[in-house]
Amino acid sequence: MSTLSPARRGSAISGLGHALPHRIVTNAELEAKLDTDDTWIVARTGIAERRILDGEVLLDLAITAASRALRRAELTAAQIDLIVVATMTAPDRCPSLAARLGAALGVSAPAVFDLNAACAGFSHALAVADHAITCGAAGHALVVGADAMSDVLDWSDRTTAILMADGAGAVVVSATDRPGIAPVVWGSDPALADLITISAPDHRFRQQGPSVFRWAITRAQHVARAALERAGTTAADLVGFVPHQANLRIITAVADQLGIPHERTAREVAVLGNASAATIPLALSRLVERGEIAAGPVLLLGFGGGFSYSGQVVQLRAASAA
Ligand code: UT7
Repeated sequence: MSTLSPARRGSAISGLGHALPHRIVTNAELEAKLDTDDTWIVARTGIAERRILDGEVLLDLAITAASRALRRAELTAAQIDLIVVATMTAPDRCPSLAARLGAALGVSAPAVFDLNAACAGFSHALAVADHAITCGAAGHALVVGADAMSDVLDWSDRTTAILMADGAGAVVVSATDRPGIAPVVWGSDPALADLITISAPDHRFRQQGPSVFRWAITRAQHVARAALERAGTTAADLVGFVPHQANLRIITAVADQLGIPHERTAREVAVLGNASAATIPLALSRLVERGEIAAGPVLLLGFGGGFSYSGQVVQLRAASAA
């Protein structure tokens, strides 16, 4: 049982890590199986290749990503008292992926649960961890975004098989006196709840792609602007912009609407595809690791199934990436 700590003024990201499957699936490989081609995929999505699990399982990626984030935070698993995994592809309905992750890492008695807000899940989970820490219910939290979309794809459907991918990203969130995670902007549009589904009878991933696209290039900017306002900052002050990595055309359109230069905007979708709840922590960790995002304010922005959206500004400190 975790001991209540005194309520703190805030929390911040103290470590970042990520993990990818080894297997790279190129557009050429998909061309051989589906009625599609590299030119169409690159022109419409910006995706050249993606990572797909082969021989590993989602838990392996979550363990690696979380272990790297812990190392960067200079913490041991024993110091974690909350684990939240954002996922919609946990292998079991029970126990949660978070429970399996806690057991694998050897954490003694963490609060563990999965959170399903589809591709917007990571920003939701980060907010939940921030709230738990700020109210004194946790001291250090592991927040993981992990999805194995290859498990739920219809591999004969060219409209989705070319897009989706597998991966995991993790952050450690720790109590601080100076808040490093600004208030979240989160919500959903119930009228659009069926735009993206993994439902009966076959429980395969389906989406009304053009409708999602339209939402993203018209509405996502408003979520981003509200998150900037709640953080008391502006797009010009950002050292990085990490939107959900679904389609390069969406990413560049939203960056342009906000006036954020492309070189400060994550464009990892080109080589990683869309790994749902994992895309934001994956991209964030990789950009920090490569030195492309330095210390300072970074805007996170997720959207997807539900139809859910969320975003917040995080204040990154130096040397937090694995
Ligand atoms: O993470 C969850 C959030 N999801 C998203 O953000 C996805 C948002 N949507 C998108 O990214 C885009 O809508 C897609 C990439 C899914 C599709 O691109 P699009 O430019 O909206 O294409 P479309 O669906 O309007 O299809 C245009 C044409 C169609 O053919 P016709 O009807 O014009 O003859 C499609 O059948 O392209 C065809 N098409 C393909 N052709 C070759 C669809 N998929 C493919 C394909 N290869 N893989």
